[in-house]
Amino acid sequence: MSRKPIIAGNWKMNLTVEEGKKLAKQFADASIDYNTREVVISPSFVLAPLVKDAVKGSQVDVAVQNVSNKESGAYTGEVSCSMLKSLDFKTIIIGHSERRSYYNDTDAIVNEKVKLALANGFRVILCIGEQLEDREAGVHFETSLYQLGRAIHGATHLENLVIAYEPVWAIGTGKTASAQDAEDMHAHIRAKLAELTSKDVADKTRILYGGSVKPESIKELMGKPNVDGALVGGASLKFDDFIKIINF
Ligand code: PGA
Repeated sequence: MSRKPIIAGNWKMNLTVEEGKKLAKQFADASIDYNTREVVISPSFVLAPLVKDAVKGSQVDVAVQNVSNKESGAYTGEVSCSMLKSLDFKTIIIGHSERRSYYNDTDAIVNEKVKLALANGFRVILCIGEQLEDREAGVHFETSLYQLGRAIHGATHLENLVIAYEPVWAIGTGKTASAQDAEDMHAHIRAKLAELTSKDVADKTRILYGGSVKPESIKELMGKPNVDGALVGGASLKFDDFIKIINF
């Protein structure tokens, strides 16, 4: 089963509009073999439409980092699927650990967001991953698979699901899971996905690794059969680093 790798950059709450447009334009103009990989960059909501304009005509997909779990109405500060659709966004990151830890994105809320975004035709990059305590206690598989099961329960259009396995202890810490640890988890995720959906969906779903991915670590990660790309935070903010990761 060949799955086209996705290299995705999560800019988080960084960059001004001008900085974001400039950086995005560099990726749009760069030499990238899109036959063998997809490239996604994800600015914050206010930057996203302008960054999208800046890469027009290129194959860079501009994604957003979150979406409301409600369709519309009195939800101050939220952004809906229909708003994103009207701006022609295709991809939404859901359930990032920073959203889960700092903004109360519980498993139930993540599930509502995933169902709504998939039903609205978006591609969803669903983030799951254990905390350090879970790994130390030896329950990292259980924790991550539990999050997966809760997130996709009752969801349709699972052909548009992408999973990002991001061990929380590896995010922004400089500690990467070993390529073998990532592979082990990804194999468990794929097996669980087959059980929860179908073997066909599981075989086709891209599972990205995230957590301190750097130009130095990408090659070994991408050499693993169940690693289908990367979700990159810090290193996606630097053109020289991220282009090396894209062109691993
Ligand atoms: P990092 O972030 O690459 O800075 O560790 C990854 C992520 O949070 O998606």
